[in-house]
Amino acid sequence: MNRAGRKVALVTGSCGGIGRALVKKYAAQGLALALADREQSATESFVSEINLKGGEAKSFAGDLTDQSYCDSLPLQVFNQFGRIDILVNNAGLIRRGKITDTSDEDFSLSIAVNVEAPFRLVRATIPIMEKAGGGSIVNTSSCWGVYPGPDHLIYCTTKAALAAMTKCLGRDHAHQKIRINAVCPNEVNTAMLRSGFKIRGLDPENGIAKLNESVPLGHVAEPEEIANVIAFLTSDEASYICGSLVEINGGKAVY
Ligand SMILES: NC(=O)c1ccc[n+]([C@@H]2O[C@H](COP(=O)([O-])OP(=O)(O)OC[C@H]3O[C@@H](n4cnc5c(N)ncnc54)[C@H](O)[C@@H]3O)[C@@H](O)[C@H]2O)c1
Repeated sequence: MNRAGRKVALVTGSCGGIGRALVKKYAAQGLALALADREQSATESFVSEINLKGGEAKSFAGDLTDQSYCDSLPLQVFNQFGRIDILVNNAGLIRRGKITDTSDEDFSLSIAVNVEAPFRLVRATIPIMEKAGGGSIVNTSSCWGVYPGPDHLIYCTTKAALAAMTKCLGRDHAHQKIRINAVCPNEVNTAMLRSGFKIRGLDPENGIAKLNESVPLGHVAEPEEIANVIAFLTSDEASYICGSLVEINGGKAVY
């Protein structure tokens, strides 16, 4: 059982750029945290870091391509903490290229992590939240899920599926007082964005500096700027926001 009736948040991709910023924000707000990421040692050391600072976190490391892990994760978290108030489906991966560059493995892996895992996690979480009288879920889609950009066929397809899923879920579960929304960021300064520069043989620092010039607000998002919006959407302050796709783009349109 969690300490002192703290709200409990389950965050996937908790050791990545946006996930790490979100977990730190939630810890500072006094939430208890269930950290889910693929790398067991990274997840456990992040858990220790939070607990050493007086927070409350537990590791639920695992691979989101494992269906049984996804199906059982919400109940595991509930059994450990006694509640789940917030689920953030933040984990994701990017495979780049046109359809003719996209292998079967790119397709299956992208669908498994970006679409199927959120589907399974939400499906298993809804009954837990319903019994508790409500909750809040945020899916991390992308502005490319709403306005597909060039040469990222499978990434845009999966993020569009997650955006559509979010709108359906928002409507279907509002009556159970479960608010379900998505954030749709444009470029964010994380390993995911930087990996694209490396593939093209470019220095990530120069790449980010160049990209900053293309954003009306003057810089690509820092992970904290996305985490702040997710934290808002899952807070009581956002009590009337449900089934929304919230674009976070610094004023930069996709096309
Ligand atoms: N960085 C951007 O420019 C950007 C823009 C729009 C949307 N997003 C989305 O934001 C989310 C977070 O991405 P990020 O930028 O922090 O990237 P990141 O690569 O830093 O983090 C992604 C996290 O997901 C985890 N993950 C991936 N596959 C997994 C698996 N099979 N099992 C368990 N965990 C797995 C990784 O371990 C990692 O911690 C993603 O859904 C991404 O698509 C990112």
